[in-house]
Amino acid sequence: MSDVAKRNAAEAALKLVEPDMVLGLGTGSTAAIFVRLLAEKVSQGLKIIGTPTSEATDKLARSLGIKIVSPDELTRIDLTIDGADEFDPDLNLIKGGGAALLREKIIAEASDRMVVITDPTKQVDALGQFPLPIEINAFGSELTRHRIHNRLADVGLGDAPSSWRMATGESLLHTDGGHLILDLACGRIADPKALAALLDDLPGVVEHGLFIGYADQVIVGETSGARIVNPRRG
Ligand code: A5P
Repeated sequence: MSDVAKRNAAEAALKLVEPDMVLGLGTGSTAAIFVRLLAEKVSQGLKIIGTPTSEATDKLARSLGIKIVSPDELTRIDLTIDGADEFDPDLNLIKGGGAALLREKIIAEASDRMVVITDPTKQVDALGQFPLPIEINAFGSELTRHRIHNRLADVGLGDAPSSWRMATGESLLHTDGGHLILDLACGRIADPKALAALLDDLPGVVEHGLFIGYADQVIVGETSGARIVNPRRG
């Protein structure tokens, strides 16, 4: 999908920003477009504070002159703007395509409001076409992978293949927090909540990319303009 759609989503999200807000700044190509547009407003006099969801976003935002503070200096965040790899009609998300899911979830959870910006390719009837990223502690990582697969049959995903995310070359990718990413090719996830609960229950799983009930709204950029998707009622 072209950057035009992503930019239209980011531009619509920019309208939600008010002076003196504390903003969670997401990670990924769509969030990066938002950060660039935000920086333009800052250079024109808008006063906001940003807190980043990754080292990459931290670096980008600082380089563009956005005031960045560590989450440790905050007790709450007004609004987080972030991308997603998939969203369903309940606005449950898969995130972590950029390996930043742990920090993204910490910041989203602490935010009064989370608004997701995407292009139309991310909208699905059911999550799972995008492989689910699972952040895993390096200690006992193969054992943790084995434990995950032992339990997957309970949620109808007994056959789901998994693979370790690689960095460039033949080395494993390490997240900003030094963990590994296991990509789980689920296919259709019938019950995202049950899968999230299963993963939450395993000690070697640091975090997973299922964001259940985090997003308040999704802004879908189109080739012309953007549309708002609210969670399905009931
Ligand atoms: C980063 O870890 C992800 O959660 C991103 O937000 C997600 O992959 C969306 O990225 P794009 O905006 O690049 O598609």
